[in-house]
Amino acid sequence: MDEMFKPSRRSFLRGSAAVAVGSAAGAAAAEGPDPLIADLQDWASYTGVGVDETPYGMPISFESHVVRRNVEWLTASPISSINFTPIHALDGTITPQGCAFERHHSGAIELSKQDYRLMINGLVDKPLVFTYDDIERLPRENHVYFCECAANTGMEWAGAQLNGAQFTHGMIHNMEYTGVPLRTLLSEAGADTSSDKWVYVEGADASSNGRSIPMEKALDDVLVAFKANGEALRMEHGYPVRLVVPGWEGNMWVKWLRRIEVTDMAVESREETSKYTDVYENGMARKWTWVMDAKSVITSPSPQMPIKHGPGQMVISGLAWSGHGQITRVDVSKDGGITWETARLGKQGDTKALTRFYLDTQWDGKPMLLQARAIDDTGYVQPTKGQLRERRGENSVYHNNCIQTWYVDAEGNAENVEVS
Ligand code: MTE
Ligand code: CO
Repeated sequence: MDEMFKPSRRSFLRGSAAVAVGSAAGAAAAEGPDPLIADLQDWASYTGVGVDETPYGMPISFESHVVRRNVEWLTASPISSINFTPIHALDGTITPQGCAFERHHSGAIELSKQDYRLMINGLVDKPLVFTYDDIERLPRENHVYFCECAANTGMEWAGAQLNGAQFTHGMIHNMEYTGVPLRTLLSEAGADTSSDKWVYVEGADASSNGRSIPMEKALDDVLVAFKANGEALRMEHGYPVRLVVPGWEGNMWVKWLRRIEVTDMAVESREETSKYTDVYENGMARKWTWVMDAKSVITSPSPQMPIKHGPGQMVISGLAWSGHGQITRVDVSKDGGITWETARLGKQGDTKALTRFYLDTQWDGKPMLLQARAIDDTGYVQPTKGQLRERRGENSVYHNNCIQTWYVDAEGNAENVEVS
C-alpha cells in the first residue's frame, strides 16, 4: 500500500470513533480513509479538532522544539538559575510569554491577586498599601520594551563558549506591557520626588531581589505592570505585578513587586554591590551600570538555524536593541567585519524595544564569517569584542554587548567563533 494512503494513527483513531458513532446509529461501519479517493491527503480525509478541545492553545507539535532551554552546568541548581528564549526560531519582535527567558534567584512563586499587596513607604506623606484591584483603578498605559539580563552573553567574555544564539543572546525578551506609571503611585502617596531621592524596590519572593532606582528614572518611564502581550503576566514573569524599567538591566525589573520605599540614598543591596557590578583589571569595580548599551545578534543563520538550501537567494535576519533609545541602523558583514552592508529594518525601531533586521541577499555557497553591528539614535556603534576587552579587561561577567560572529561553512552549518 502506498505510504500516502495508510491511515495515520490519528486518522485511525478518528476512524474508530466513526465506527462507534456509526454502529450506535445503525449505519455501516467506516474503516479508515476511503482508498478510492487516491488524491485525498490524510488531513483532508477527516474532520479536524473541535473548538472545545483547546480552551487555551499550545503550539502545534511540529514546533515543539521552540522552547526555553537551560544549560545545566551554568548554575548549581535550577531554582536559582536561568533559561533562554529560543530567539533563533522566532521572527518579528514580540516574545510570547510561554518561551520568554526566566531568571529567578529563589524560584518562581505562586502569588494570587487576592493575596497580593504593594506597599509604598519611606519619604512619603501617606504610606499606602495597594491591593491588586486598587492598581487596576489607576490610569494605565501600553508600551513595548525589551528586558535583557545584564548577564546575557556573559559566558562569552573569555572566548566563544555556547553554540547557539539562544544560549549566547537568549536572556532577552520583548513584550507589550500594560501598567500604571510608577510616578502615578508615587504621587498618590505624596512622595518626596526631589532629584536626589531614590526608590528601593523589592519582590515578594524569598530572594526579594531589592534594587535602588534613582528618582529621575522612577519619574520617567518605569511601569508597575500587570499584563504582558495582552494577558496576565505568567507566574514566572512576576504574576500578578512586576516592575518594568525600560532600557535598564533586567535585574531591576522586580517581579512579584511588594514594596517601594522612597529613600534619600541608595540602599547598596547585594544585587547592586557584590552582584551586577564588574571588576576592572586594577581591582576597581564598575557600579550603577544600569543602561543596556546597543547590541545585536544574527538569529538566522546561526548554530541552531543552519542554511538548508544551496547557493542563491537567502535572508539573513536578526535582532537589535538599545537601552538608550531607538535603533537607527544595523550593518551586516559576511567577512568578519572587513566589509559591511546596511540591513533593512523590519519596521522603524521603537525606543528601548527589539528591532528586527533583514539582509535580503545572495549566498555564493562559500564560507562566511557573519556579524551584525547595531547603531542607536545617540550615534553609539556596537563595539567589537577586542574594543570591549580593551576598556573592560577580562574580569567582567555583565554587560557584554560586543559584536557576535558565526562561522558558516560551505554546507550551511554555523558555529560560534571569536573574531576580535
Ligand atoms: N525579581 C524578583 N523578585 N526575583 C528575581 O529573582 N530576577 C531578576 C529580575 N527580577 C528576579 C526579579 C533578573 S536577574 C532578571 S534578568 C529579570 O527579573 C528576569 O525577568 P524574567 O524572569 O521575566 O525573564
Ligand atoms: Co538578570
